[in-house]
Amino acid sequence: MKEKKMSDVQRLKQDYPWIQTPLVVGAPMRLIALADLAVEVSKAGGIGFIGAGTDTSSLSTYFQHAQRLLGASALATKNGTMPIGVGFINWGADIDVAVSLIQKYRPAAVWFFAPSSTASLMQWTEKSREACPETKVWVQVGSVQEAMGAVRETKPDVLVVQGTDAGGHGLAQGAGLISLVPEVCDAVETYFSRDGGAGGERPVIIAAGGIAEQRSAAAAMTLGASGVVLGTRLLASYEANISKGYRDEVLRASDGGQTTVRTKVYDTLRNTNWAATHNARGVINKTYFDAMDGMGEEENRRLYTEETNKGDAGWGVENRMTTYAGSAVGLVKEVKGAGEIVREMRGQIGGVLDRAKAIL
Ligand SMILES: Cc1cc2nc3c(=O)[nH]c(=O)nc-3n(C[C@H](O)[C@H](O)[C@H](O)COP(=O)(O)O)c2cc1C
Repeated sequence: MKEKKMSDVQRLKQDYPWIQTPLVVGAPMRLIALADLAVEVSKAGGIGFIGAGTDTSSLSTYFQHAQRLLGASALATKNGTMPIGVGFINWGADIDVAVSLIQKYRPAAVWFFAPSSTASLMQWTEKSREACPETKVWVQVGSVQEAMGAVRETKPDVLVVQGTDAGGHGLAQGAGLISLVPEVCDAVETYFSRDGGAGGERPVIIAAGGIAEQRSAAAAMTLGASGVVLGTRLLASYEANISKGYRDEVLRASDGGQTTVRTKVYDTLRNTNWAATHNARGVINKTYFDAMDGMGEEENRRLYTEETNKGDAGWGVENRMTTYAGSAVGLVKEVKGAGEIVREMRGQIGGVLDRAKAIL
């Protein structure tokens, strides 16, 4: 008898037994999403990720902190994995340190992003699976081409499809979730139904980029996603490792299409080594205006460096501290606990879908 295929939701519940659906995920925001944020998201029935980014030097400490925070919580996990994930920016992270920590702490998931090449992504995936076969592999992609490259070469368990509204880094040339998610879903479906998927299992698809509340989360699910990622919304959570100036700027900014921009300007001044394919979305400030007005890189960098001494006063339109945030920043109006944000959103998605159905 032919075995009945599990639905994506069943698969998610099997792989991450503590979750509640619809699934809300906390993005691995580099050095902002640490143990407090990741654990709080998971405790609320989501999946929280620690954001190691390119820097694995303190990751062991973050994992130990997470273990302590999780200690009494008794979340159901699979095969003794830790009920949180960890995200790496592959082009800059130390693979050997990362892999040894994956082996030691056994996170439920690893999240890979922006590898320097397909070969590098394959290496990360293979080594991670060797180190801890129970740790599921999530890959964040920003185009149909990237998605299918990852699917063919690495057979990820989860594809995180990132639209161009996303805060922080992503493909410089991209599309919004509204067209990207269905096209990725179709391409993946075709690959597995027509070509058999080369013996792999179809990845679960999760959407990221511009989702800050229940309406956009419901929309992403109608597009074909089985879960949603929150980045910018969680910048305004008590657990985010973020300075007050940054958080206040996230709360202040509205009309994100006008007040944020995808640019390389902030990276250039901060001397980060992102490839030409990627830039980042952040709130527009003096650094950006000056660069557009023709100020030289050296002068702009000098002014930026000076600004880093101003503390919280360095953030704001008239100031220079980088404020990575997505175009949904205008929907972020108050600071709350990450758990409350996740629970509230999850609880309201069904109502939004019911209202949408009522128009039929
Ligand atoms: C401040 C900030 C830092 C981020 N750092 C990372 C990171 O280190 N690794 C990663 O894969 N994605 C990172 N992202 C992108 C998120 O994973 C996610 O795609 C994005 O936040 C979703 O869009 P949203 O911000 O509109 O919710 C970051 C996003 C923000 C806002």
